[in-house]
Amino acid sequence: MLPYGRQSIDEDDVEAVAAVLRGDWLTTGPTVTAYEEALSELAGGHPVVTCTSGTAALHAAYSGLDLRAGDEVVTTPMTFVATASGATLAGAEVVFADVDPGTGLIDPAAVEAALTERTRVVAAVDYAGHPCDYDALQPLADRVGAVTLADAAHSIGGSYRGRPVGDLADVTTFSFFPTKNLTTTEGGAVVTKDPDVARRVREFHNIGLVRDPDRFEVTDQGPWHQEVHRLGVNYRLSDVACALGLSQLRRLPRFARRRGEVFAAYGEALADLDGLALPAMQGDVNPVWHLYPVRVLDGRRAEVYTRMREAGVGVQVNYLPVYWHPAYARLGYRRGMCPNAERFYEQVLSLPMFPDLTDDDVALVVDTLRGILT
Ligand SMILES: Cc1ncc(COP(=O)(O)O)c(C=O)c1O
Repeated sequence: MLPYGRQSIDEDDVEAVAAVLRGDWLTTGPTVTAYEEALSELAGGHPVVTCTSGTAALHAAYSGLDLRAGDEVVTTPMTFVATASGATLAGAEVVFADVDPGTGLIDPAAVEAALTERTRVVAAVDYAGHPCDYDALQPLADRVGAVTLADAAHSIGGSYRGRPVGDLADVTTFSFFPTKNLTTTEGGAVVTKDPDVARRVREFHNIGLVRDPDRFEVTDQGPWHQEVHRLGVNYRLSDVACALGLSQLRRLPRFARRRGEVFAAYGEALADLDGLALPAMQGDVNPVWHLYPVRVLDGRRAEVYTRMREAGVGVQVNYLPVYWHPAYARLGYRRGMCPNAERFYEQVLSLPMFPDLTDDDVALVVDTLRGILT
């Protein structure tokens, strides 16, 4: 089965990982620092904390923002559950704002309507790799004293109005899962513009350990001492994983280029097909296309999903609206809240998109889809 997404690993990646395995540091060593520095360079020069996954990065980011019971996080339902669940786990209440019907991106007008004096975070998702309209979102967040968070699990390497992803929101999170734009196997990262948030994220992801003697509350111990002020977790990414990340980062421009070529090839080959809406691009953006989400019209999405997979083409549905998950339904969220997101979900189908996809693979996907829809 042709997968809908997969990693691209070459001998340089294998060698980079092997070199770290032969060295002294398997974790919490110089390769973690080097990877965080390289990510920072890509993402506007802000502090970066690597984490064990994109889910961990979101949880650490919300925890670093010091959310408390009663605080609200406004976010999109058209995302992987972790964008919202990280906020819920950190103690905040999630408020869903509807999406633009064409792009599936959070709609600034819906965000504006959802803001209250309790809003602490506006969390946008660069769905499919398309950066959101941060110049519209940031002033809305600023107006109520909230921060913007970009879940950039799909969009690392892209840009918006000439600014790189990582520099667009107050806080940004990445995922390095194998299907993403680059991989560390499992992995993720938090980028933040606020050094205090960066410190809290770093401490949270490292069990809450404080190592700075100037901040010690227990002052009668020896040079071995470290202490915990606020409870944390172990979300540390290893040197082995970061070696893979550093090696992959060198190829990110190549990955991005091929993803762009596949996007263009699908667009050209499918433009005239009735019953299909192609991914929309809005504004001055340079996406790295993580997904190729078409919308299958006329109620045929489930049929097309099944027939594509039967023909050996791995398609995927991204995503169930977050509040349809039983965990959120049990909290009282009801279907119908965000009609654009629900309609988008009912139509959306991600076609295979990854850098090693060949022209023949693209032709197979196109021919199979044409065969079903015509
Ligand atoms: C939009 C979005 N946010 C967060 C995540 C979580 O990332 P991870 O799978 O690395 O935990 C994913 C990945 O599945 C994602 O697609």
